[in-house]
Amino acid sequence: MTKTKLSDLDWNNLGFHYHDLPYRWTDTFKDGKWQGGHLTQDSTLTFNEAAEELHYGQEVFEGLKAYRRKDGGVNLFRPDQNAKRMVNSAKRLLMEPYPEEEFLKAVKAVVKANQEFIPPYGTGATLYIRPFMMGVSPLTGVAPAENYIFRVYATPVGSYVKGLKPMPYTVSEYDRAAPFGTGQAKTAGNYAGSLLPSLLAKKEGFADCLYLDPAQHKYIDEFGGANFYGITKDGQFQTPKSDSILPSITKYSILKVAKDLGMNPIETKIPVDEVDKFEEAGAMGTAAVISPVGSLTYKGKKHIFHSETEAGPLTQKLYNTLFGIQVGDLPDKYGWTVQL
Ligand code: PLP
Ligand code: COI
Repeated sequence: MTKTKLSDLDWNNLGFHYHDLPYRWTDTFKDGKWQGGHLTQDSTLTFNEAAEELHYGQEVFEGLKAYRRKDGGVNLFRPDQNAKRMVNSAKRLLMEPYPEEEFLKAVKAVVKANQEFIPPYGTGATLYIRPFMMGVSPLTGVAPAENYIFRVYATPVGSYVKGLKPMPYTVSEYDRAAPFGTGQAKTAGNYAGSLLPSLLAKKEGFADCLYLDPAQHKYIDEFGGANFYGITKDGQFQTPKSDSILPSITKYSILKVAKDLGMNPIETKIPVDEVDKFEEAGAMGTAAVISPVGSLTYKGKKHIFHSETEAGPLTQKLYNTLFGIQVGDLPDKYGWTVQL
């Protein structure tokens, strides 16, 4: 693959694509220990055809962003939380967790080494960072690998879901995760399973689909790549409480921001047939940031939230506050940002 040059990039029209930047971090686990990571220019990986990850999906990943501040410096947003979640995901997949300190070192090194590719302040674009880890021992039986590769690459991105434009969603008849399955882990298989339901939704003209709880199909779970929220007509922020969704770092941050904004936020079970109580709704995640849901179609009935064309005022306020903190325009009273 050819390396991306700065001149190839239009900061205002980046989309959510992979660009082969100059540097990534790589480390291996063998002989019972992590060998010590380093930066490399090689964007390819070499492993045996029988690698555990290829056949049995022993892989976990993370996603976080680096933000260019107004003063030209760079912010990371809660990278310690990604390091912790990756340890939890690894434990669920019976993988050798990557030490949190090393994770942070790797992320910082990759951002610094590729810093000219961090989009300028004011474009709304960011540098997306993708740490991941996989089992690479050659195995035929289903068993945890003995050897692992940990890697971190980065790519400049616009927003995953465009700006604050509300989009139409539908409720999927498929499940994203199983009860007591791997829904709380950020692991490849959850996303492979979401490809078909997502395609079916798109074919019907929706931006994507929303999943229900896999045990009863009664409560809202989450989107394929973001958590869900609804804001009631009297201004309460609600987000699903569920054991089969990814614990979103954006969600936990927004719960605090919403509290500060007087929105009395709660995590609670949200019956899908009660969406009428919401005046506004949205998706939240690192890639999605905050993306308004214009409408939700369930069993052929379309529920329109605030508007199909304009973001609601509380969604706008949450977005401005969260993004303001991330990019360093607003005070960071919780100490969430790490300055580079
Ligand atoms: N839910 C799923 C399934 C995701 O893939 C993501 C993205 O990471 C999220 C939620 C949001 O999590 P976070 O806010 O930590 O990015
Ligand atoms: C993220 O938001 O970081 C994710 O990993 C979501 C993915 C679907 C792009």
